[in-house]
Formats: sequence, structure tokens, C-alpha cells
Amino acid sequence: MGNISVVVDTLWGDSGKGKIVDLLAPKADVVVRYAGGSNAGHTIKNDQGTFKLHLVPSGILHKKTLNIIESGVVVNPTALVAEIRELRKAGVSITKHNLRISRRAHLVMPWHILRDQLKDAKSGKSKIGTTGRGIGPTYADRTAREGFRMKDLYARDFSERYAAELRRQNKLIQLLGGSSIPLQQSRREILRARAFLKEFVDDTFPIVQMYLKEKKTVLGEGAQGALLDIALGGFPYVTSSNTGVAGFSLVTGIQDHHITNVIGVTKAYSTRVGGGPMPTELFDADGEKIREVGGEYGATTGRPRRCGWFDLPATRYGCIVSGARSIALMKLDVLDDFKRINVCVGYRKQNKTYAMMPDMDPDTLENVRPVYRSFQGWREKTSHVRSFDKLPLNARRYITFLEKELRLPIQIISVGAERSRVILRTA
Ligand code: IMP
Repeated sequence: MGNISVVVDTLWGDSGKGKIVDLLAPKADVVVRYAGGSNAGHTIKNDQGTFKLHLVPSGILHKKTLNIIESGVVVNPTALVAEIRELRKAGVSITKHNLRISRRAHLVMPWHILRDQLKDAKSGKSKIGTTGRGIGPTYADRTAREGFRMKDLYARDFSERYAAELRRQNKLIQLLGGSSIPLQQSRREILRARAFLKEFVDDTFPIVQMYLKEKKTVLGEGAQGALLDIALGGFPYVTSSNTGVAGFSLVTGIQDHHITNVIGVTKAYSTRVGGGPMPTELFDADGEKIREVGGEYGATTGRPRRCGWFDLPATRYGCIVSGARSIALMKLDVLDDFKRINVCVGYRKQNKTYAMMPDMDPDTLENVRPVYRSFQGWREKTSHVRSFDKLPLNARRYITFLEKELRLPIQIISVGAERSRVILRTA
């Protein structure tokens, strides 16, 4: 096997996986996006501009890297076409030589999107706050062994099957209080996307196997975050996929012992978007400041993110369930101008303090109170710093504390959105 690394997120997503994948991609022969769908928003900022990717893997800006959308990803064909068009308009070359889509990837259809939105809107207080991109219903169909896959688009009877399925789905949509999706128009759009995407559709599993045999460098790109994982996240406030390294193994067949590194991407503070508990969430001026300085608004939906201090119990749990073996600490510069910076070192519940909870479910987290340790801020700009030793002393203290508490090496420190604003602590 060659060098295999996987990039995951240790909390609730939005940590900057796109930047890390973009950073590592020049050395990768292939980048494999393995889960999620267009609910993801991976932002890359470099000398060519700012790119917001949703389905296209974050290695796409490097000409020599092959990018694969693997079978674990749920693909909205029309959204993918729009994304490719947008990237091409911005000067990014996308051909079958640098992008392939698994024939086995499940398709997000218009009814999945509508069902997702109608259901979440009806859920009142217990609403998950999904991105409304049809993710849950598509994975539900997949688990029920229904729905369409990429290869079905190219079957001779696709048009008839589409019409039959739409009739069935429209009944469901009416039950949910929505209005029917028109056949002609929606099918026309899918057929257009089908023609556009044809050149990219392939058997991707053997391609990755071939790369492995040739000892090439493979980079897995996760989406969302460990605490949004369907199996180990804070159910039901989760997404519907396996977000950690396990998700990568599930679709590539590459098992953990063959994987060289799993990089857990985590911000120097916490954010969450959507419903569900967030123990360190701030409702004060500090929270507002993190949001504004950090530009904490969703890359996909534009929703303001909930912001809070670094949460060690949540991150400890997230590192375990995502399989992280090292850390990329992101957005350190956002904390440059804070007098005091807090870190949640434990959760207090019923007179006991916990370093980590048995799970991150809402009932487990009910009535937990974060226990903080306060650090002195550094109040200096860090975005120009390129080596750990040159960081202000208080920033080094902060990072060293997190590293010790997480028991994982912090190998990458990001101090700004641009590709170059990074401190690498390994050769
Ligand atoms: P869904 O994935 O759209 O079904 O949304 C389920 C939950 O995951 C909601 O709380 C979303 O806000 C959250 N979520 C989904 N994708 C992302 C992401 O890329 N970043 C952060 N949160 C996400």
C-alpha cells in the first residue's frame, strides 16, 4: 500500500477540511470524497480566488490529482452540474482526467429535497435544522434498498422508471402537505444533467485499488463531522452518513491498519449549525465576536453558526469516533484579539465532573455545565507566522495545553483562510 491519509472533522463540521485537503492534494495522486452530499461546503481560498465546493472533491484545483466522488456520497445531479459549470467559469479545468463519479453513488432526486424540507419544517421544536439538501431521505432510500444510483441514469428504461417513481413520491409529498413535482420539467432537468455527467461516471472502486497497488498517495476527504455521524454522533441531531474514517473504509475497502494518518480537523474554538446540544455555546459578546471575526456563517446555507469555546470533552469523544490520529488546529488567528480565552475541560452533571461522556446524545448532555479553564489571550496578530516557535507565548501555551489534553499531536496550525497561512510542525 502507498501513503493513505484521511481528513475528518472531530466535531460538528465546518472546521476547514477543504483547506487541509487542498494543502495536501499536491502530494496526492487521488482524492476520494467518501460521504455526505451537497450539504457540505468546503471553502478553499488561494491565489486563483475563493472556491466553495459542495460535491466536487477539494483536490480539484491541482491539475495532476484525480478526484473521485465515491459511492458513499449522495449526488444531486443538477447541483453537481451547476457546481462544475461554476468552477469551469472560474478557470478550473474539469475533465474525466481529473474527476470521476462512482456508478454506484445514490442520487438525490427532487422529491428527496422536498421531503427533507417538509419534514424538518413540520418538526417544530425537535427540528434537526437540516441543510434541506435531501440528504436524509436519500440515505433512507438507500438503506431501504430503493432509489436511483448513478448507473441507473444510463439505463434504457430510466425515463419510465423516473415517471413511475415520481408518481409514488408525489403521493408521499401530498401527505406531507407539499405540492406535486411536475414530471416533464423535473425529468428534463435530470436528463440534461445525465448527458452532462456521462463522461465522469465510472467504476471507481477498481481505480482506487489500482492506485493502491501502484503504491500511490491516496487522500480521503470526509464531510460533516464526528458528532454528526449517524452511528456515533448525537442522534437524532446528526446527518445520515458515516463521517469518520470508518466511512472511508466502508466505501474503499481500505481498512484502518493500512491507513497512514487520519487528520482530525478542529477549530481553535467550537461551532455548530442546526439543532441539538452544544455545551459551550456562547450567547454573549464573545460568541458574537467569534462569529464575526471567524466569518461563521454556513458555506451552504448562509445560516449563522452557533459559536463557543473549545470543548475538550466533545473533542475527545469526536477524536475517538472519527479515528483521528493527529490534529489540524484551524482558525487560531480568530482568537488573536481576546483578552481571555476559555477551554471547557470537563462537563459537570449532578455533582460529578466528566472528562468525556459515554455518548453525545441530547439526553446524556441534558443539564451538563461546562467547566472552564481560562487562558490569557495573546493579543497579537498570528496570520503572518509560519513556525510554531514564532507564535506568541500565550498562543503556544494554549496549543500545548490542547495537545496534552487530547493526547494527539497538533501537526498543522492554520492562521488564516489562504492556502499559505499555515504552520506545519512535521516534515
Ligand atoms: P443534513 O445533513 O442536511 O441532513 O443535516 C443534518 C444536520 O447536520 C444539521 O444539523 C445540519 O446543520 C448538519 N450539517 C450537515 N452538513 C453540514 C456541514 O457540512 N457542516 C455543518 N453542519 C452540517
